[in-house]
Amino acid sequence: MSFPVDVVVMAAGKGTRMKSSKPKVLHRLGGRALAQHVIDTAARVSARSVVVITGHGAEQVEAGLVAAEGMALQFVRQEPQLGTGHAVQQAVPVLADDGVTLVLSGDVPLMRPETLQALLDLCGGQHLALLTLSMADPTGYGRIVRSADGSVQAIVEQKDASPEQRTIQEIYSGIMAVPTRLLRQWLARLDNQNAQGEYYLTDVVKFAVGDGQKVQAHRITDAVQVAGVNSPVQLAELERAYQRRQAEALMEQGVRLADPARFDVRGELVCGLDVEIDVNAIFSGRVVLGNGVRIGAHCVIANAEIAAGVVIHPFTHIDGEKLGVRVGAGSLIGPFARLRPGADLGAEVHIGNFVEVKNASLAAGAKANHLAYLGDATVGERVNFGAGSITANYDGANKHRTVIEADVHVGSNCVLVAPVSLGAGGTVGAGSVINKNTPPGSLAVARGKQVTLANWQRPAKKKP
Ligand code: UD1
Ligand code: CA
Repeated sequence: MSFPVDVVVMAAGKGTRMKSSKPKVLHRLGGRALAQHVIDTAARVSARSVVVITGHGAEQVEAGLVAAEGMALQFVRQEPQLGTGHAVQQAVPVLADDGVTLVLSGDVPLMRPETLQALLDLCGGQHLALLTLSMADPTGYGRIVRSADGSVQAIVEQKDASPEQRTIQEIYSGIMAVPTRLLRQWLARLDNQNAQGEYYLTDVVKFAVGDGQKVQAHRITDAVQVAGVNSPVQLAELERAYQRRQAEALMEQGVRLADPARFDVRGELVCGLDVEIDVNAIFSGRVVLGNGVRIGAHCVIANAEIAAGVVIHPFTHIDGEKLGVRVGAGSLIGPFARLRPGADLGAEVHIGNFVEVKNASLAAGAKANHLAYLGDATVGERVNFGAGSITANYDGANKHRTVIEADVHVGSNCVLVAPVSLGAGGTVGAGSVINKNTPPGSLAVARGKQVTLANWQRPAKKKP
């Protein structure tokens, strides 16, 4: 049984309780907009198209979302917002009759694709299928009214429900799958004669029943999947649930997390074998960790490829942004190191505390262990870059490159004024300001000569 799936994402509501100028569905969970999670999940059930219904903050929402691979994404505006049925009515003109419409909510980010697939299977291209859930406290939700034989008769909204109906614990999740040709007919019959004066999407159930159609229900037990975000508290709760899911998936692959409750991936983290991650690491963008990589506590790492056996000591900050950061096998980084875009480190490189590297390559075995800045530099193999030394790469208008050839030893507290290059095997004396190229094998010292006066008497403090 195969049929095209077109997804309608409801995202026109205001989200008043977020108390934010940003439209609710653009608030981020795991680094991605809430509604983007919904779009990406739709892609996992091979949706042919996604139609997002926008209203409040429509322009921002439309600019803030992107299609997933292999699907068409379009936006339809709902102005004013007259209810969930009215919302889907706006989408119907762009939906094709050969498909099934899967209705999702832009503020429900943690739905699993397997659950949607089960719902679609139950729909089978023929039936109205509802995703339902039993709740200890169903207050506020639409109740699933079933007849004596258990078949679904209607969804009754909280405000329209009789006291008896309010005791029903099975609720409508807000998610349904329905053959589009039927949806089109049923939506045309909606009215707003109800307690809220809204056009209820949920009224399609009574039309289906009236047409003699059997209504299917797929009842799940995992409330997180259908939980919506209405407030910052709920957003934070779902963020933890999402991070827990990612942590568990990684641990199942063998990644050892010191504490899955103190672990955040706001993007994509790809791990090799025997990776160990201490507490409070935050990963964003795309990060790849090779076999045996160890990440210390409190590291923030974005857009980086870390090769096998690398140890990142605590409190290290790595952000490759667009250029990326590469760390070669067996390197030791940190504690308190900062790798910025274009840092490209070879094997067995050592970057120690308070060292910043930006747009610079360091070849195998190079070391900058303390208090240094390497920007716009090409550093050869086994170079030792001394404590407190920097490349002065910026003349106030333009950036210039520093080239340090293999086996150079730069002493402590040196300034290399770019553009400048140091020949292989050379040495720079501590405290030097180098602005002329040095030949291979040379010693360059550029500082005032030491003056020593014997028996020097310091001035004494005058008595009043
Ligand atoms: C709806 C269901 C209810 C269900 C609940 C699950 C109806 C009538 N009721 O309730 O049975 O238990 O969801 O959460 O459908 N929206 C629009 N345009 C509108 C109104 C809403 O786009 O005119 C969007 C909202 O932004 C939201 C979604 O539709 O993403 C659901 O709206 P909401 O008001 O939260 O649903 P309820 O009325 O609470
Ligand atoms: Ca409502």
